[in-house]
Amino acid sequence: MEKHLEYNTALVTGATSGIGKAITKRLLQLGMNVVAVGRNEEKLEALKSEFDHHTKLFVIQANVSKQQEIESAVKQAETQFGSVDVLVNNAGKMGSSRILEGETSDWDDMIDINIKGLLYGVDAVVGAMVNKQKGHIVNICSDSGFEVIERLSVYCATKFSVRAISIGLEKELANTGVRVSNISPGMVETGLSANSPFEENRKKLEPKDIANAVAYAISQPSYVNVNEITVRPS
Ligand SMILES: NC(=O)c1ccc[n+]([C@@H]2O[C@H](COP(=O)([O-])OP(=O)(O)OC[C@H]3O[C@@H](n4cnc5c(N)ncnc54)[C@H](OP(=O)(O)O)[C@@H]3O)[C@@H](O)[C@H]2O)c1
Repeated sequence: MEKHLEYNTALVTGATSGIGKAITKRLLQLGMNVVAVGRNEEKLEALKSEFDHHTKLFVIQANVSKQQEIESAVKQAETQFGSVDVLVNNAGKMGSSRILEGETSDWDDMIDINIKGLLYGVDAVVGAMVNKQKGHIVNICSDSGFEVIERLSVYCATKFSVRAISIGLEKELANTGVRVSNISPGMVETGLSANSPFEENRKKLEPKDIANAVAYAISQPSYVNVNEITVRPS
């Protein structure tokens, strides 16, 4: 365990690939119980097999954009490990997003997963955290939460929303013992960014680089709230 890590259990959404999988691995390395949430059953089974030596991993199938499913996932996590101390809201979608292209079903998905799914996750854990005066909510935002890229207008709108939610939540939770960290990656090598244009000779971030930022944020002394971390390729 890291020196100041005072949490036992984390629930990570979108844990079956990319950044979420790297966060799952890093938190297991820190000695935490990790509840890994994803939608795709095969990917969940693959995650279980990959970490089968880890008795602290518990896998749950749930769609974050369905409020009852994420509430049920949190209840199962509490039954398994006693409490959820850290929620990592990582599940996300970057779909076709130019407003003029009018791909409204992609817009609905991005709003449902990136904004509503994140809020449902917060709602499912925050009451118990406030009662215990201990907990940490980590929202995986994006550099798209700071600047709008023309081909990604709607995706950027969802990530601006994530940042607004993180800032508002941090204010609402000030002095409650519950901390909020908004972590904003630039381009990371994952399936989500596979088709995004990027400079030929510039190295993208690796998922573990974002997992390290999460580990840093949650292992500070309890009087320290790391609100925003932005990590970009150099
Ligand atoms: N990659 C980048 O360059 C980059 C940059 C900035 C920010 N981000 C953010 O980082 C986060 C993770 O992205 P990634 O690059 O790791 O993408 P990824 O490899 O595509 O992984 C996305 C994960 O989210 C899960 N997921 C999607 N919709 C879900 C839902 N409704 N319910 C539950 N799980 C769901 C997927 O699981 P299933 O397949 O099982 O549904 C998958 O595990 C996202 O929020 C993304 O916006 C990524």
